[in-house]
Amino acid sequence: MTEQGLLFPTGFRWGTATSSYQVEGNLTNNDWWAAEQQGGYVFQDHTAGLACDWWNRAEEDFDRMAEMHHTAHRLSIEWSRVEPRPGVWDESALSRYRDMLHGLRQRGIEPMVTLHHFTNPLWLAERGGWENENIVVWFERYVRKVVTTLGDLTNLWCTINEPGVLIAQGYVLGRFAPRKRDVNAALRAAVNLMRAHAAAYRAIHELQPEARVGLAHHMIVWQPWRPWFPGDLLAANFVRHMFQDLLLSTISWGTMRVPGRRSLFMPEVASSLDWLGINYYQRYRVRYRLFGGQNPVQQLTKPGVQKGPGEWGEIHPRGMFDTLRMLWRRYRLPLFVTENGIPDETDEQRPGFIVSHLHALWRAIRQGIPVQGYYFWSLIDNFEWTEGYDPRFRFGLVGVDFKTQERHIRPSGRLYAAICRQGGLLRETVEQYTPELATAVFGGASI
Ligand code: FCB
Repeated sequence: MTEQGLLFPTGFRWGTATSSYQVEGNLTNNDWWAAEQQGGYVFQDHTAGLACDWWNRAEEDFDRMAEMHHTAHRLSIEWSRVEPRPGVWDESALSRYRDMLHGLRQRGIEPMVTLHHFTNPLWLAERGGWENENIVVWFERYVRKVVTTLGDLTNLWCTINEPGVLIAQGYVLGRFAPRKRDVNAALRAAVNLMRAHAAAYRAIHELQPEARVGLAHHMIVWQPWRPWFPGDLLAANFVRHMFQDLLLSTISWGTMRVPGRRSLFMPEVASSLDWLGINYYQRYRVRYRLFGGQNPVQQLTKPGVQKGPGEWGEIHPRGMFDTLRMLWRRYRLPLFVTENGIPDETDEQRPGFIVSHLHALWRAIRQGIPVQGYYFWSLIDNFEWTEGYDPRFRFGLVGVDFKTQERHIRPSGRLYAAICRQGGLLRETVEQYTPELATAVFGGASI
């Protein structure tokens, strides 16, 4: 801490994150689009539609990022645009992405490029998607094409967004495409996701030796509902292992350990991360129910604890500190916060959310944990997967009126702009936007 406040290291990346399907608009050649057409999928049967019309107007929002002093942005490439049919490349789509990356660079914003963010091209979904082991070769082929075409504009690559969420939502809970509830399918998908990631990692390094390749992993704090009750403790440990630790340990050490199954050795997967990104949002409590039938494990929030709308979990900034520290101790990799944010249309909670989480992040960095950047989710309101355009699920620093495509910067956007400009949490800024947190942040109180 200096006189003025909590400053972050020079060169720390201050940015936001988005993904292709959520912002680009008019994407009709992937599995999400296909699932939306069947109905019963997304909140009130919304479809992503025009989204934020980024395919035509991303640069207007890049201007906003620059005005708000952002120095980094994480965006994703849409596989179904680049390779609309197997082995057929759409060069005009690739050139649009070139323009986008160039546009970011021109504005002093460093791009981080995600190669897969939940959506699969239709041709791939029709061939079994992540369950088909050929996806490893197909993904590598696509990645090689992208890196060859865009590699002079970035060297910061994120192979796959949230493999754990993809498996849980797509193959266990049946909420995301391909909407299955099948543990064997989930495990097949998990193996192929890990292999595809590793194949991409090696291919990128072959094409671009200076590349820095990682992935974005969704990390939740899972706590037992009753800390003294072994059932809850075991249930919390099980969920944590299956949802997040399993994939990370596979990727680091090359062995996949699923309880009750034979361990799978995948040496080709080991040591395939230059950095690890966490997407951190929330805490859940876990309760074991003896008579819970098919669902003995329940995910809950505690009454009275600050939380997001609907099923959204508890807001728990300290969890971000704990998670970063645990990951650093366990894996010794440079870290990024590749997503962090809150659904909050009224912007009542978002300013406090930002300040308290950056406070947690600053503490982690001060303890020597090498976190190199923070990408807030999200720059703008966008299509929130199964929540569609439900007004309760607005994540943007910038609000969007989806009827007119008009934008307005929320107070939290101005707050984050000041933080980016000042390189940390200055007392005057915290006092202006979140006076209720000033004592906790500057008085040294624990979070
Ligand atoms: C993450 C997703 C991202 C967005 C946020 C709210 O799990 O990666 O696309 O939907 O949640």
